Amino acid sequence: MDIEKILSETDLAAKAPVSEPERQYYYIGKARELVRRRAEEAGHPLRFCVTTFGCQMNARDSEKLAGILKQIGYVEEPDEDKADFVIFNTCTVRENANQRVYGRLGQLHHEKKKRPDMLIGLCGCMMQEPGVVEKLKKSYRFVDLIFGTHNIYKFAELIVTRLMSDRMVIDIWKDTDQIVENLPNDRKYSFKSGVNIMFGCNNFCSYCIVPYVRGRERSREPEDILAEIDCMVRDGVVEVMLLGQNVNSYGKNLKNPITFARLLEQVEQIGGLERIRFMTSHPKDLSDELIEVMAHSKKICKQMHLPLQSGSSRLLKIMNRHYTKEDYLLLVEKIRKAVPDISLTTDIIVGFPGETEEDFKETIDVVNKVEFDSAFTFIYSRRTGTPAAAMENQVPEGIVKERFDRLLSAVQEISARKTAGAVGTVQDVLVEEINAQDASLVTGRTSQNYIVHFAGSPSQIGSIVPVRLDESRGFYYMGTQII
Ligand code: SAH
Ligand code: SF4
Ligand code: F3S
Repeated sequence: MDIEKILSETDLAAKAPVSEPERQYYYIGKARELVRRRAEEAGHPLRFCVTTFGCQMNARDSEKLAGILKQIGYVEEPDEDKADFVIFNTCTVRENANQRVYGRLGQLHHEKKKRPDMLIGLCGCMMQEPGVVEKLKKSYRFVDLIFGTHNIYKFAELIVTRLMSDRMVIDIWKDTDQIVENLPNDRKYSFKSGVNIMFGCNNFCSYCIVPYVRGRERSREPEDILAEIDCMVRDGVVEVMLLGQNVNSYGKNLKNPITFARLLEQVEQIGGLERIRFMTSHPKDLSDELIEVMAHSKKICKQMHLPLQSGSSRLLKIMNRHYTKEDYLLLVEKIRKAVPDISLTTDIIVGFPGETEEDFKETIDVVNKVEFDSAFTFIYSRRTGTPAAAMENQVPEGIVKERFDRLLSAVQEISARKTAGAVGTVQDVLVEEINAQDASLVTGRTSQNYIVHFAGSPSQIGSIVPVRLDESRGFYYMGTQII
């Protein structure tokens, strides 16, 4: 994709094209002119800062926002308080994510009073909640631009609307069946990248707001995914993370249906690509075919994130997860048999409505039986509009906190034991960055996704090297490169 060539062929004096992505290229051209003028007035290039909350999908979306901003002439500025355009890409999966955004907005308001030319944009999952937008319209009038998860590809067009109008611009869509390909994006890392393979979610787990804010499940065409990865690899990427809320149901609704396992096989064929990861796998849709493909693959990393949520079959049913405790344990057994040294990680919710001590003990039982390499543990958060929010038997805070602490210590004890078990082994490590504390060290990840620090040089970033794990320190290892 040669943006300059496309732009040179776009007539900015004509009306905006109707089809995408041509329409967005037209607006990128328009925005460039407006940004150039503003920068001249300011006497310096305009700076942007995108702050991302939430999951890897949001992180990838932020790369798309940054790609468009750079194309229209903004330069990146890591410090929010110095930026001319601050964008919060928000998450609403738990209440505390929302609170953080309101807190940060309050701080930004002070800054904006000093610098009225500053722009503030809000997007992402939180904006898909009508109550949030109402609150912003009423009490946060200083925000310039609000858009949602379905129309981020329109960012350039929205910026032009805002720059031409000088009023708060709000554009939120309820849902979409559109996927716009071939827009700019700006990868955070040169050597690894997330790749969306699908958007949205159809599962409606009863506690979860994601299906309401991300819309219905839509898969990208395999050709588009493969072309994007191919292009990334030619640009230096060696590791991709295929992203979807439930990658195991990838491709089911395409005109020519294809399974996730088949897609993986095709991604594996891309020469120059070294590592493939994916997330998230829903246990209910994880097929034998996928396990088979993983067992034979040379590139799929030995790591799987397999959210459990609860070990109680009774609660799993009310959560609408479509598997039982036994199904989950059996699945883990099958996966471990096929890929013996696989690292398994999970998500667990504590304090789902009606959770009894017995239910909780079932969760601890699964944790002890599976021995997860690590687990993300969450206190249940009531999300307006979800079925669980209307359930009357919410668990008292004190009990939830006490269970949460017990779960956390069980998880940490197992994870420390597991990491200690790998000491002495030699692993392939993808070198990712210079160590923040000690510049003589580099930091990388093993296939199992463990973090390793070892003596190395910046020139190694992006390459895969063998490293002996000398010492485990909880969440990471100290190692030595084997030459
Ligand atoms: N699609 C993924 C999860 C996306 S959300 C999956 O199905 O596994 C990431 C995690 O947030 C979930 O796995 C769940 O553990 C947690 N989560 C979602 N809604 C929550 C809520 N209301 N309260 C607490 N944790 C929640
Ligand atoms: Fe939420 Fe369930 Fe969809 Fe995951 S699968 S995003 S937990 S509704
Ligand atoms: Fe949050 Fe949206 Fe991801 S709600 S977890 S950012 S899909």
